[in-house]
Amino acid sequence: MWGDDAGLRYGGDYNPEQWPAEVWREDVALMRRARVNLVTVGVFAWSRLEPEPGRYTFDWLDQVLALLHDNGISVALATPTASPPPWFSLAHPDALPVTADGVRLHHGSRDTYCAAAPAYRAAARRIAAALADRYAHHPALALWHVHNEYGTTCHCAHTARAFRRWLADRHGDLDALNAAWATSFWSQHYTDWAQVDTPRATQYLANPGHLLDFRRFWSDTLLAAYAEQRDLLRAANPAVPVTTNHVLADWVPVDHARWAAEVDLVAIDHYPDATDGGAEEQTALAADLARGWARHGAGRRTGDVGRPARWLLMESAPNQIHSGGRMHAKEPGRMARHSLSHVARGSRGVMFFQWRAPAGGAERFHSALVPHAGPDTRVFREAVDLGATLERISEVDDGTVDAAVAIAWDAASGWALGHPGMPSPRLNHRDEMSAAHRALWRAGFGTDIVLPGDRLDGYRLLVLPALYLASEATADWVGGYVHGGGHLLVTWLSGVADEHARVRLDGHPGAFRDVLGVRVEEFHPLADGETVPLSDAGTGRLWAETVRLAGAEPVASYAGGPLAGLPAVTRHRSGAGTAWYLSTRPDDATYRRLVTQAARAAGATPVCPAAPAGVEAVRRRAAGASWLFLLNHTDRPQQVPAAGVDLLTGATAATEVHLPAGGAAVLRETGAAGRPGDPGRHDR
Ligand code: GLA
Repeated sequence: MWGDDAGLRYGGDYNPEQWPAEVWREDVALMRRARVNLVTVGVFAWSRLEPEPGRYTFDWLDQVLALLHDNGISVALATPTASPPPWFSLAHPDALPVTADGVRLHHGSRDTYCAAAPAYRAAARRIAAALADRYAHHPALALWHVHNEYGTTCHCAHTARAFRRWLADRHGDLDALNAAWATSFWSQHYTDWAQVDTPRATQYLANPGHLLDFRRFWSDTLLAAYAEQRDLLRAANPAVPVTTNHVLADWVPVDHARWAAEVDLVAIDHYPDATDGGAEEQTALAADLARGWARHGAGRRTGDVGRPARWLLMESAPNQIHSGGRMHAKEPGRMARHSLSHVARGSRGVMFFQWRAPAGGAERFHSALVPHAGPDTRVFREAVDLGATLERISEVDDGTVDAAVAIAWDAASGWALGHPGMPSPRLNHRDEMSAAHRALWRAGFGTDIVLPGDRLDGYRLLVLPALYLASEATADWVGGYVHGGGHLLVTWLSGVADEHARVRLDGHPGAFRDVLGVRVEEFHPLADGETVPLSDAGTGRLWAETVRLAGAEPVASYAGGPLAGLPAVTRHRSGAGTAWYLSTRPDDATYRRLVTQAARAAGATPVCPAAPAGVEAVRRRAAGASWLFLLNHTDRPQQVPAAGVDLLTGATAATEVHLPAGGAAVLRETGAAGRPGDPGRHDR
């Protein structure tokens, strides 16, 4: 069972259906050696569980669960609905997905279903119910893992019907829909619901409101598909938590924050795609995002109130970073540092895809804790070490994470910025959020990710990176925060449009113009590689704007190009607060300097001010205790001024911690740094 006292979870996707029973016995012995305590079973096992309609073959799964249980290993039991068997597609061709250009896809890979097709939904409920009937009270069962990485879309007739119903619910009538989508442009006015289709392939640019609503519709439709499985599983045994694993990718039409309230535990899969220091920055951001979603989670609303916002890293890669079409082997120690970075930021454990590398199948070269070369390998030895590490640091599990700065995230802004008719193809909410997060990460500030409307008390600084869509409620949220004394930093492209992606008039950034004390007249997107100098010796990239001051003071101006002499970075005292505006994307060094200036002016301090460059520091706290995670991402030994007992080695540091190259320490702190002071907001 998923108890609070079970310590950190460790394991990954386990696919016994790909192996004969002798291998299962070796697997379990190796799992014990690595101190694995949780494995995800059955994710893609539908054709092994139901080889023909209504005929179930559970005997192999019975044996696997019994073997795992006998060896003290718990199970996250998956429903296999992300990969219907071939018999299903042949029996229900109407449930196969259709692309925007009308091509019906066939089985032969995975995810070949339309989640709006009644036959698929019924079959998914049936297999979920069969698993619930048989295993809901199994002693190995710790967690239900519904489906895998919800994120598919479809354009079939079932989808079109469901989309129309969803639109009618959202907009009420066609007049409202026509207004929201601005259909007077290009003669798109609808006079009958039957005229409204999914955004199929069309001649030229599609309507932005139509595309945005289609994404929202899919998020809700996939959530409904998840929820009906969850309800069946819960009904069978309410004590077992239910979740699904979120994939972090721009193509996913899933508003993960809205899903958080529907899962008992937020779970993410994380695969950085940069081989340089970018992988570490991406890891920190993914973990902060997951914790931000967890703050909205079901667990927080019920039994978990008052506990830290915890979540689970459900999948990560043991040994590879896929970047630019190439697989890059992680350097020794890197997997452990990534894992510790997740735990430092609130993950309840570390899970991997996958336990054992298969000999065949499409993902045969994806990394595994037991690689093709077997357990006598560096990768498995590092897996064994990580198991021991997680046991040693399990006391951190109840700690909240310090964060002085909040960054706002909004899935729909990302979707809207993806429209091809934008002023530049380089506009991306995630990239802008990453740039802001990276600047703060490099400057050593703890960050939380928040959603528009969240409580902001306790944060020293709120950052809005390309928060393109802003409703009136969002504008009021930001305005109220600043007038009440909050410090705000807004980047270009924020507040430009309303929640339907209609541009706000009378000057950008419409929703935040007053609070920023600026009025933007024109956009000047830059070419790839083009830069613009700033008067403070900084550099801007990607974008520039004609900014007119309307109460704000200039902090830096454009120092070259057509905007020379005009403000680039501004600051505005508004009410009791201060609001900064960045009208360009500063390069990394400039960004770091600017966020440091804004954060320090707001009274924020870095987690470990004396940590050398390349050493990541994260602090967690619980009543009377604090833990400082120090991760040395450099290839040189480093010294960090800090005091406490390193849980990894048992050594006591009186004034300074010595980190080996690529190494880590988790200090149970003594001294002033660890005492509750004013770290900013705790994630309670
Ligand atoms: C995802 C999936 C897994 C697997 C891995 C490969 O996260 O959930 O099934 O495909 O990626 O990296």
